[in-house]
Amino acid sequence: EKDLLKALPLRGKKVLITAGPTYEAIDPVRFIGNHSSGKMGFAIAETAAGLGAEVILVAGPVNIGTDHPNVKLLSVTSAEEMFNECIEHFSNCDIAILSAAVADYRPVVVASEKIKKKDSELHIKLEKTRDILATLGERKKDQFLVGFALETENELENAKTKLKKKNLDLIVLNSLRDKGAGFKGDTNKVTLIDKDNKEYPFSVKPKTEVARDILEFIIEKLHA
Ligand code: CTP
Ligand code: CA
Repeated sequence: EKDLLKALPLRGKKVLITAGPTYEAIDPVRFIGNHSSGKMGFAIAETAAGLGAEVILVAGPVNIGTDHPNVKLLSVTSAEEMFNECIEHFSNCDIAILSAAVADYRPVVVASEKIKKKDSELHIKLEKTRDILATLGERKKDQFLVGFALETENELENAKTKLKKKNLDLIVLNSLRDKGAGFKGDTNKVTLIDKDNKEYPFSVKPKTEVARDILEFIIEKLHA
């Protein structure tokens, strides 16, 4: 009985997770998006559920799914839809892990008809989307809030700035410079940075194992 409970360290915990890209419509047939596969977020969701958590997974357009009974999948398309779902569920959660590659900008107007080709240049005016993670950081009570940082330069410094600015408890730095890392493949190389700016580098490994590393780190912090 005791060993069984030990194996489910997230039992009774509610975890909010975001995953995948967002698509920002330009017209009825086009959008601005990115190459995020959602694999990292789905791996975290399934691993957390396997550790006993009740998971709400808010995912942008992805080609993967989950049949884990403790993962409730909420599919969204745009950054705004993802924002609304996160706001709705955050207050009931104990842990939030935002791994989605949310679009930073979206077209100011969405054309109601397909934009036709002309001889002239086409300019699409973009406005900023709302920062979901920063908003949760502002509203945080006793939730443990985790963000990701995707950097190509000044990685550690930029990640630490995000950690502080968005009021996070932990940031997962995802280096696009390392081989075997990034948001398309099956492996990842991360460095975890805690609130005290302490760095914990991990080696390149499958995303399922990275998910476990991240969750074990969070569980240790919750017990500390
Ligand atoms: N994020 C979010 N909502 C946004 C933009 C980002 O929730 N509108 C979250 C991401 O899910 C990630 C973290 O913020 O957990 C950092 O995302 P990233 O793109 O690395 O940083 P930005 O703050 O958007 O800054 P920049 O893209 O300029 O580096
Ligand atoms: Ca961004």
